[in-house]
Amino acid sequence: MRTDNDTWDITTSVGSTALFVAAARALEAQKPDPLAVDPFAEVFCRAVGGSWAALLDGKEPEHPLMSAEFGQHFVTFQAARTRYFDDYFHNATQAGVRQIVLLAAGLDSRAYRLDWPAGMTVYELDQPQVLEFKRDALAAHGATARAERREIAVDLRDDWQQALRDSGFRADQPSAWIAEGLLIYLPASAQEQLFTGVDSLANAGSHLAVEEGKPMDRDTFREKVHEAKSVDDERGQWWQLVYNEQHAPAAQWFAERGWVAEETTLIDYLKTVGRSVESADAEAANMLASITLVSAVKR
Ligand SMILES: C[S@@+](CC[C@H](N)C(=O)[O-])C[C@H]1O[C@@H](n2cnc3c(N)ncnc32)[C@H](O)[C@@H]1O
Repeated sequence: MRTDNDTWDITTSVGSTALFVAAARALEAQKPDPLAVDPFAEVFCRAVGGSWAALLDGKEPEHPLMSAEFGQHFVTFQAARTRYFDDYFHNATQAGVRQIVLLAAGLDSRAYRLDWPAGMTVYELDQPQVLEFKRDALAAHGATARAERREIAVDLRDDWQQALRDSGFRADQPSAWIAEGLLIYLPASAQEQLFTGVDSLANAGSHLAVEEGKPMDRDTFREKVHEAKSVDDERGQWWQLVYNEQHAPAAQWFAERGWVAEETTLIDYLKTVGRSVESADAEAANMLASITLVSAVKR
């Protein structure tokens, strides 16, 4: 279970969720017609080794990411999410933004993967051991960032705004932010602090994109957490890492503060990119139906 000041590395607690989604991206990249290709996702899995590397070699048939019921939909979800945020950054860059902030960067490799214009700075915020793993794995691979990349080792439940400013972030210049795969790991109070922090540092013309999920009803969630205690795999552990809370829907919260926000349900986005939205598995169907992708621009 979570505590207010818990910490982790890349293979434990919330840190391992970064590896889980990177593994999903690596599996997507193996498909003949991938929605998005993140070549560094495989690098991270191989750097950890063991079952994470074996998974990519088809040697972990029991891994949750391999199941037809859940894994296949989760991999597609991650691929769609990657594509959505990649396109969002392309648009923000075209609009002239030169400061990117990855809230909970995890194993996001966009600083190394996307074609950034000259003068771009990418700020990556996450817990210290997650950033350390990523730095070491990419250095061992010989990867070079395609933008000025600055790591900010913080807990996003603390005062991360000052740390960001201290690293050179300019609140008087437009910026583009993402919270991809983050909100569910924060209690509602920290979500509020996060949104407030973004709004206070974002100049007019700034962009924001968020992935969010609708909370489940409390009894169903409690049951899920209880059941998961007897399942000793990543999915079982995952239920014990998340907060079933939502401070406020992002589009509404930011619209009330002068941002123009647009929501796209994951289902609609999957249809746009030509991927299946049907699942016979209740958990996968609930996951697909509960996620919304939000983009906003500050006036
Ligand atoms: C599911 S991963 C998503 C990573 C990345 N955004 C992506 O989509 O690949 C969740 C990430 O959130 C980070 N995270 C969650 N809560 C955090 C907190 N309170 N402070 C710093 N990082 C946090 C974890 O360390 C992890 O890297």
